[in-house]
Amino acid sequence: MRVLALSSGTSVDAIDVALADLDDAEGVVRMRMVAHTERTWPAPLRGRILAALPPAATDLGEVCRLDTEIGQSFGDAGAWAIEAWGAVDLVVSHGQTVHHWVEQGTPDGGGGVSDDAGSARGTLQLGSAAWIAARTGRPVIHDLRSADIAAGGQGAPLVSLLDALWLGDRPTAALNIGGIANITLVGDGPVRTGDTGPGNCLLDDAVAAGTGRRFDADGALAAAGRVDPQALAVLLADPYYARPLPKSTGRETFDGGYVTAALGAAGVAVPSGNDLFATLTELTARTIAEAIIRDGARTERVVVSGGGVRNATLMAGLRSRLPGVVTSDALGLAAEAKEAYLFALLGYLSARGLPGTAPGAGRRRATGARSAVVLGSLTPPAPAPCPPGRDPVHTLVLEEG
Ligand SMILES: Nc1ncnc2c1ncn2[C@@H]1O[C@H](COP(=O)(O)OP(=O)(O)O)[C@@H](O)[C@H]1O
Ligand SMILES: [Mg+2]
Repeated sequence: MRVLALSSGTSVDAIDVALADLDDAEGVVRMRMVAHTERTWPAPLRGRILAALPPAATDLGEVCRLDTEIGQSFGDAGAWAIEAWGAVDLVVSHGQTVHHWVEQGTPDGGGGVSDDAGSARGTLQLGSAAWIAARTGRPVIHDLRSADIAAGGQGAPLVSLLDALWLGDRPTAALNIGGIANITLVGDGPVRTGDTGPGNCLLDDAVAAGTGRRFDADGALAAAGRVDPQALAVLLADPYYARPLPKSTGRETFDGGYVTAALGAAGVAVPSGNDLFATLTELTARTIAEAIIRDGARTERVVVSGGGVRNATLMAGLRSRLPGVVTSDALGLAAEAKEAYLFALLGYLSARGLPGTAPGAGRRRATGARSAVVLGSLTPPAPAPCPPGRDPVHTLVLEEG
């Protein structure tokens, strides 16, 4: 089955496009990675997506417009790929995450928070599948995360099955550094997965605000700055980092105002210029490394993907703390396209009626879900399990029950 995957991560940097040929027999899934690229967002639309994210207030009219326009842009990216690479059987769209609802918990009176803190309650990816189907002419699997949340899981990260099948032969941490960073620990007992916290997002925001550039190319700005130990200590004290896996987070927590608010609340000054970039880069490297060491003490290698692999300062911070750091390219999966190929795999599994997450500890899935669920929704809907209709419907007969 030829599957075209479309996705955009929390960085909102581009629409990732990947074409894969998949089949399976006797439990062996084969994914041939045919082509991948990224398509740029229309600049005004990207600006409006970023402007709608927290800490900004937004309104439902804008959410509706974004849903349509993101769907149209994804549809255009899909149509472009079909024109360039040939026909496909199925399109899979992750859409653009605009909110990932994780319970913060209520104070329990004893200085802690209620037990429901950290559970995921909902997640919203925009990009109307109807527009994608209209522009590609193919059925679209979308809304890949909600079913896992409805089964009690985090709904993110969704990469556990791919990592377990691909890297599970020895103790390995798979690490993806997008706007948010996530890990999957495989090859050493039950598969565990979760978001470690910010990947590039806080750094991207600070660099955009401070320099007007979109990101710290190659980590050069951070390399020219000095880590501010006091500011770093305040940021490291965020309770998110101490929470056990599985866990997930997003830009509604680590938003554009997060650093100023956290440091302001502690009465610590925001480091200036390159020192801020150095401090935020260090925050990402430390929180990732500490999460891997805490939960994957026997980890032999760390296989890194996502745009963060191109930040040399960040990668040096990881290499100084973790064993066997390699990029996913070295093992045959392009670092910038891993997530898009992941969604191609998940879409294929869903089309085959197979669950998309790895088994975790006990009876749980790696995401924390209570059961193995088939991920996603299909547009247009598959025929219901009844004899196929042959004639167009022209009359409705209402009968009393
Ligand atoms: N040359 C580079 N140097 C440093 N960072 C980079 C470079 N290229 C991309 N990035 C970082 O990677 C991010 C995009 O990574 P990506 O994996 O697409 O994240 P997401 O999944 O959140 O969209 C950019 O926002 C930027 O922070
Ligand atoms: Mg991206």
